[in-house]
Amino acid sequence: MTIAPVQRPASTAWTDTKLILALEEVVETELNRHLKAAKEWMPHEYVPWSQGRDFDGVLGGEPWAIEQSKITPLGRTSLVVNLLTEDNLPSYHHEIATMFGREGAWGAWVHRWTAEEGRHGIAIRDYLLATRAVDPVELERARMSHMSAGFESDNAHSMLQSIAYVAFQELATRISHRNTGHFAGDPLCDQLLAKIANDENLHMVFYRNLLKAALELAPDQAMRAIADVVTDFRMPGHGIPGFERAAVQIAVGGVYNLRIHHDDVLQPVLRHLKVLDIDGLGPEGARAQEELGLFLEGLHAQAVRFDERQAALLARRAARK
Ligand SMILES: [Fe+2]
Ligand SMILES: [Fe+2]
Repeated sequence: MTIAPVQRPASTAWTDTKLILALEEVVETELNRHLKAAKEWMPHEYVPWSQGRDFDGVLGGEPWAIEQSKITPLGRTSLVVNLLTEDNLPSYHHEIATMFGREGAWGAWVHRWTAEEGRHGIAIRDYLLATRAVDPVELERARMSHMSAGFESDNAHSMLQSIAYVAFQELATRISHRNTGHFAGDPLCDQLLAKIANDENLHMVFYRNLLKAALELAPDQAMRAIADVVTDFRMPGHGIPGFERAAVQIAVGGVYNLRIHHDDVLQPVLRHLKVLDIDGLGPEGARAQEELGLFLEGLHAQAVRFDERQAALLARRAARK
């Protein structure tokens, strides 16, 4: 007797084109929810224009000097990394418009998202220049260098990986802005970054809900995409000049590090979607789920070691004072 193989819908049946069509309705629902939840806000209201004055050069004003900056060194580093990350928006727009298209509900989302992200760069730059928080020449040179290099998504080959990546990345950006605000040493800056973090949170919710729908539609492929993204995650600002050094300061200072990445970025999304509890997966999905579980255990152990090193370093610094 021959045993017929179990007929599972082949996971390879879901091409990117089919997924985009199948998810269009979800995108429309999520876009409408987003538009209801997003409250209009004005970046100019968060900039203390009265503190601004002319710089040297064309207007013959006062050159920038570090003593003029009222924010903390950690705030300076972190705000510049966050701003340069926001500045690369033309590249991000290109990547998501190429992946999701510019028509229908997907197109409406791509354009709306781009407009909201544009506000973040405008607001942070205006704030930094009006308050003389950072060196404007260094900032402009870093922007030119960073944008000239462009940004290419690590996930451009896969629609599901792209969705999984942005779900985590929007939350990472939210946390990074929020913590930068806490440590910058200026309540107005904190308020501005809280406002931006709120936008990023709504972006995360949009992509997370889309990822949920993708998990229902194509569970094995979506699980593989999530595992691949989580195990190989890097922030979009990784190409910024001096990023490695800045990243160490940002990690030790508690703006963004392994512990935060594990506890405040990966876990909330994974738990919300109950990714590790999904059952009934095919062999490929089950393998991806297992890989993900093992990776998270390893990451947790690394985060514990990071906590210890951070505590020791901060204790040494405190003793030197
Ligand atoms: Fe943003
Ligand atoms: Fe965002």
